[in-house]
Amino acid sequence: MSDVTDWWTTSIIDMEPGRIDIRGRAIQDLIGNLSFAEMIWLMLRGSNPTKGEANLLEAALVASVDHGPQAPSIAAARMAVTCGLGLNGAMGTAVHMLDDVHGGAGQQFVSLLHNLVAEPDQSASKIANYLNRYRQDINPYIPGFGHRFHKPVDPRAPRLMALVREARDRGDVSGEFMHIAVQIETVLADIKGKPVPMNIDGATAVIYVELGFSPELARGLFCLSRSVGAMAHGYEQMQQGGRNKGPTPPRYRWRYKKN
Ligand SMILES: CC(C)(COP(=O)(O)OP(=O)(O)OC[C@H]1O[C@@H](n2cnc3c(N)ncnc32)[C@H](O)[C@@H]1OP(=O)(O)O)[C@@H](O)C(=O)NCCC(=O)NCCS
Repeated sequence: MSDVTDWWTTSIIDMEPGRIDIRGRAIQDLIGNLSFAEMIWLMLRGSNPTKGEANLLEAALVASVDHGPQAPSIAAARMAVTCGLGLNGAMGTAVHMLDDVHGGAGQQFVSLLHNLVAEPDQSASKIANYLNRYRQDINPYIPGFGHRFHKPVDPRAPRLMALVREARDRGDVSGEFMHIAVQIETVLADIKGKPVPMNIDGATAVIYVELGFSPELARGLFCLSRSVGAMAHGYEQMQQGGRNKGPTPPRYRWRYKKN
């Protein structure tokens, strides 16, 4: 039977009838004792966060829940409901859109920060060189910066950076990634000659990397948070009704361009 039992291997959960252990701890001891953020940490890391780490994780999860129907993920969730999908379909539709450009840029940003933190010299000129190379060789858009709507400042980013600073002062995190991220914002503004503000993907990614989460998990955690917004908007749309709503009222058209 080992070919059957070995088919899936996990360190996350062990079960038998009447027993559910998550990361070696009985579920009944977790229920009522762990916050949702602490449970997420336990599931992903197999350990307990400190109170300060849990608070910071929670702050990031709170910050990115919603950005209104102008955000592609939220608009898609609402459109999905008007096409007959249930809440699961609405949430899945939203999550599928959270990729490199919208909501998923934190994954690339965490990798970028890992690369920069490994550099012996993190002066503004070195960062500028790195960003110029990145923009030329990989992507002209630095992940985690820029916003279609919030110019010159995305109000979520300074608040989240202030919380990281407080956490650093308490010794909960090192603050080294935050330090580089804030420098990038300044250097990028110099390069572009205008503010290109740290956005929500960037700010939450700083928290995730400070807490030791991998690039992939920075994206996963963003999806988890935004799922709350997708669920709320999907449910509200269900209450409102509406059938087969496209991205604009039907009287508005796209521009037809003859070849
Ligand atoms: C989010 C995003 C699509 C918003 O785009 P936008 O503000 O409409 O930006 P535009 O494409 O109109 O660019 C406006 C200017 O800012 C620059 N810019 C915007 N974001 C930039 C970034 N992340 N890095 C470098 N330059 C950027 C553009 O090059 C452009 O410069 P130009 O005027 O010299 O041509 C864009 O900033 C981006 O792709 N950011 C990286 C991905 C990301 O972090 N996504 C999460 C969004 S919350």
